[in-house]
Amino acid sequence: MRVADTPHRTIWPSPTEPAVVKIIDQRHLPHRFVIEELRTVTEVCTAIREMHVRGAGLIGATAGFGMHLAALSAPEHDFAGFLRKAAEDLIRTRPTASNLAWAVNRQLDAIGQETTLAAKRARAFAVACEIADEDAEFCRRLGEHGKEIIAEISRKKKGGVVHILTHCNAGWLAFVDYGSATAPIYAAHREGIKVHVWVDETRPWLQGAKLTAWELKEEGIPHTLIADNTGGHLMQHGMVDLVIVGTDRTTRRGDVANKIGTYLKALAAHDNGIPFYVALPSSTFDWTIRDGLTEIAIEERSGEEITHIRGLSETAEMTTIAIAPPDTPTLNYGFDVTPARLITGLISERGIMAANEEDILRLYPEQR
Ligand code: MRU
Repeated sequence: MRVADTPHRTIWPSPTEPAVVKIIDQRHLPHRFVIEELRTVTEVCTAIREMHVRGAGLIGATAGFGMHLAALSAPEHDFAGFLRKAAEDLIRTRPTASNLAWAVNRQLDAIGQETTLAAKRARAFAVACEIADEDAEFCRRLGEHGKEIIAEISRKKKGGVVHILTHCNAGWLAFVDYGSATAPIYAAHREGIKVHVWVDETRPWLQGAKLTAWELKEEGIPHTLIADNTGGHLMQHGMVDLVIVGTDRTTRRGDVANKIGTYLKALAAHDNGIPFYVALPSSTFDWTIRDGLTEIAIEERSGEEITHIRGLSETAEMTTIAIAPPDTPTLNYGFDVTPARLITGLISERGIMAANEEDILRLYPEQR
């Protein structure tokens, strides 16, 4: 199926210009809705590295289209070499989300099966669209499975409001559509189940304040923005029924890498007996590893993300201001690992599973 030319998705190919891929440049949200056109694999690498696009699923889909643009411009005499270099450049942009290498390798495998230049280029475009369509469909399906968890809590509360805490942005902006952590919430809301979302602001990049709060407002879902350190207090006072987060890489035994600070929420949820679920399309599983703590590369980002803050000035210009003394030493890890023992369950397009290898493989027997 071809991806439609629609701004209702986070990435789509131009229907009129084959060498143009369009994205929403998320650095401007929630204040401006800016569409950016990408024409080369170098531009795609920049868009991923500088977080014009971000979130595991969308990074994967963008890399898939990056390989399409690379195939279009690769010279016939060195097609394979050009593509290999493009693949390496794309994979180097961000280390933690598994969808990135997964999408690039899927492209390399598919393109490698074709023999003519025209067929290779056609295949690269088809696979980029396939990856994007599949991402949206898997998120839609996992939303249906996850909705049952919310519905069950709603029944126990006799139709009272279900309070859900989420961290970072695992919404439709982090994927091609629907989102992972938010998909069950959207599905429940559409069915008339009363939900309210506690949105962690998610320092330092503020994906919660900037993106999740914007998405939920657009969808008309009741929500409240909280400082990152508030969640534990809310849990201790019975104000959280459920935590749902996304993930950037999940091991075959269910350890989960997600935005920095997720581990602390999982600890607090565990201490307070609150169910803690992780939602993911299967492209986020890394089937080659078991131990998240030692085997997942954790991205380190610029300290400027901590010492400075970006937002709208009084004159409505996007502005960056310093909030720490000049030259303050910083350490800015982008992700942390939540061990499987703190996770109540994983929600994927195939259903709900416990965070252990046996139960994960029950739904993914082909990975045995
Ligand atoms: O650094 P980001 O914004 O690319 O991080 C990804 C995320 O948004 C989160 O970690 C998210 O919870 C999981 S990705 C769907």
